[in-house]
Amino acid sequence: MGVSVLSGKRILLGVTGGVAAYKAAVLARLLIRLGAQLTVVMTASAQRFVTPASFQALTGNRVHVDMWDERIADGMGHIELSRVSDFILVAPATTDFIARLAQGRADDLLAALCVARACPLWIAPAMNRQMWLHPATVRNVETITADGVRLLGPDAGVQACGEVGFGRMLEPEHIVAALEALLLPGGASPESSSSSEGLGYRLAGLDVLITAGPTFEPIDTVRGLTNRSSGKMGYAIAAAAQTAGARVTLVSGPTALSTPAGVTRLDVTTACEMFDAVMARAGAADVFIGVAAVADYRVAKVAAHKLKKTGVPPVLELVENPDILATVAALPDAPFCVGFAAETEDLHANAQAKRRRKQVPLLAANLAQEAFGRDDNALTLFDDAGEHVIARASKPAVARALLAHVAHLIGR
Ligand code: CTP
Repeated sequence: MGVSVLSGKRILLGVTGGVAAYKAAVLARLLIRLGAQLTVVMTASAQRFVTPASFQALTGNRVHVDMWDERIADGMGHIELSRVSDFILVAPATTDFIARLAQGRADDLLAALCVARACPLWIAPAMNRQMWLHPATVRNVETITADGVRLLGPDAGVQACGEVGFGRMLEPEHIVAALEALLLPGGASPESSSSSEGLGYRLAGLDVLITAGPTFEPIDTVRGLTNRSSGKMGYAIAAAAQTAGARVTLVSGPTALSTPAGVTRLDVTTACEMFDAVMARAGAADVFIGVAAVADYRVAKVAAHKLKKTGVPPVLELVENPDILATVAALPDAPFCVGFAAETEDLHANAQAKRRRKQVPLLAANLAQEAFGRDDNALTLFDDAGEHVIARASKPAVARALLAHVAHLIGR
């Protein structure tokens, strides 16, 4: 395993008062193991859930709890502490803390540090699902994302109160994975945030269904027809949609990628399996994005055993696979459909023809040779208003820009 991008990073870990505060201790341990240097700041209510002594023991550093602590008051500590940090991470971030951030309050040490910071601020919200859905919280989250605060999660699942829904803090290992992704070149750079301008939390509450990766069409028990799609673009879109507040279902062909935090993933192999998985869920989707490189044909008769070499080259009979995107787009109550076109030449003419043929309001076209397997991409979007170019950037940045355009088209 290589050295983590978190190694040597100076992180100010803020802990606020939610049940998930105990998980912040696990998070602190993971970060320290990866070589990060942690300074922990706790709010008064966080100390009702875990003690400063726990974090002191884990980090080997004093834990800061009080704005008026004489150790730091003299030296303008609230500014100092954030100035020496590479970023501030607040985990868990409660409803109340998010409200205070939205107002720019500085009424305790952690809030003051966030206002006084000159570094990125990333927060992992944790709250009851009703609190998360409350219009005031939705407003506050929109405000802080517009102010440049980035949200990691929340996740969906069973909550401490027994209810099920969105609001659970991301698991510590998912927070670490998200931080590593943000710290990679292009992850949270000005380049990527500029092309994602305005996405913020505009997909809040929407159901987004995405296909990604290649399909694999078997010939016999060991061989098959597939393509070079890595799944990176589709996974990046799934992650970005989740961060923008959507409930995301990712129907994925075979890839080597891990599931983005908070995303529901369904693994399929063939185009027909992908078709079935998508059609079972399309009715509930608000947005459908077909990113998968679906095989156009499958083998008519799959051999039940490994085919032997006979000296006579076999002829494979192929039959056409159903077109998933076109079928979803033709549903009576179709979700907003986004298609992808991987072309190798004549991008404009082919993409426009494909958009008409599949009857989708938005088609994102790229050159296959400049997209497949790579970590960056450039897209040309075709919609009723014409053409829009998303300049070459990391796939996560391109994903955010694409979703910002989708949000615009669906009136978000
Ligand atoms: N797609 C799909 N189901 C298929 C084939 C394609 O849902 N059976 C979707 C892809 O996910 C993508 C779009 O349709 O969003 C375009 O796929 P592409 O393979 O580029 O287009 P084709 O219609 O197959 O046209 P061609 O192979 O001639 O370029």
